[in-house]
Amino acid sequence: MVPETYQVDAGGHITIGGMRIEDLAAKFGTPLYVFDYQTLVNRLTMFQSAVSQSAVPGMVAYAAKAFFTVPMGRLIQSLGLGLDVVSGGELFTALAAGIDPQRIMFHGNVKTPEEIAWGLDRGVGYWVVDSLDELDQLDQAAGERHQEAAVVLRLTPGIDAHTHAFIRTGHFDSKFGFAMAEGISDRAVERVLNARHLRLAGFHAHIGSQILETEPFLANAEALLRYSRSWYDQKGWWPEVLDIGGGFGVRYQPDDDPPNPAAIIQTVQSLLAEWTPATQRPPRLIVEPGRSVVAEAGVTIYTVRARKTTPGGHGYVAVDGGMGDNIRPALYQAVYQAEIDGKVHSDRRIPVSLVGRYCESGDVLIPQAHLPAADVGDRVVVFGTGAYNYAMASTYNRVPRPAVVVVREGQPTVWVRRETWQDLITLDNP
Ligand SMILES: Cc1ncc(COP(=O)(O)O)c(C=O)c1O
Repeated sequence: MVPETYQVDAGGHITIGGMRIEDLAAKFGTPLYVFDYQTLVNRLTMFQSAVSQSAVPGMVAYAAKAFFTVPMGRLIQSLGLGLDVVSGGELFTALAAGIDPQRIMFHGNVKTPEEIAWGLDRGVGYWVVDSLDELDQLDQAAGERHQEAAVVLRLTPGIDAHTHAFIRTGHFDSKFGFAMAEGISDRAVERVLNARHLRLAGFHAHIGSQILETEPFLANAEALLRYSRSWYDQKGWWPEVLDIGGGFGVRYQPDDDPPNPAAIIQTVQSLLAEWTPATQRPPRLIVEPGRSVVAEAGVTIYTVRARKTTPGGHGYVAVDGGMGDNIRPALYQAVYQAEIDGKVHSDRRIPVSLVGRYCESGDVLIPQAHLPAADVGDRVVVFGTGAYNYAMASTYNRVPRPAVVVVREGQPTVWVRRETWQDLITLDNP
């Protein structure tokens, strides 16, 4: 829930990465995204060493959508990981960071002609294809370049991961992938096997996010393996990669108890070995963690600007950020925990709604927070905001987006500078 270097002193003041919240807020202003470098590196290396424990080869393709910037890309590259991108913008950032294109999986249910052309020209490693239309577009673009594109078909295995509907993707009715039902995925496999400029490299299924159980991951891997075996039996084709996506859950609340991703990865690698025909090599396992790498590394610091109590006695604490920097509570009722810096040890807590500054009643960061009495000027720290917060941030109400600062052993480094009012008008009326 909190970054690894989180500490609270006797006065209830919070330190992360050896830096006091108060000093960070004073130096960089609020709202402020803060990432703990140690947590980031430890999560990335945990995944990297998990896939390297077995004789079955593996690759970690960090899901850029969770949080991505050029410095993050450099960190990924320096640790030898791969990357999952879903847009030309993510690919552009990855290449600017020096990530080896061969270690990039290009995902997304829509890829524009420009993105396909650019990805082929830059030598993207794998194309995760989501529709028959995309297969045709990729085949044609690869043919024009006298290339053969390595295709990983995105499948929906009909597995229901018990998570919020908006982040559930493995069911047959999903907008993503080819359903493994009614012959839909079979037609896609046939199309790739018969295409002139495509090579069927393997299958992928990402069944959802914030999954707090082990079974759906194993069921997903088994579904992909069973399906691969059926193609081996029919055509002698066997995958070179199997990609089980991301989705590893994290602790947003004290009683969240996510399974250990390393144990899941090792069990899946054994399954890959078990299901591989004697004449073939086990496919390379690809995992695409996003949230589980960055969520708990990040916190957001806000400043309390207003308080009020409604006639029914409902207390509100309003801060200087909100849905512009964290849309997740409004989008899918995501839950967060918060503390007030300097009051962490207070045992007199009151139920309040922690709300933002945006012109929407739904701009509520934590509907039922239990916080010590807040004063104007207090710094509120919301935990677990490293994933899909900065990545989904907007300039709604023309509020500039916060800076991203990474802290390490008492030293802050700005990864993204704070947007300014001037930035907001820079693209207007060119
Ligand atoms: C294809 C794919 N891979 C990986 C991820 C990352 O998921 P998470 O952040 O839950 O690990 C996502 C998230 O939407 C995804 O769609």
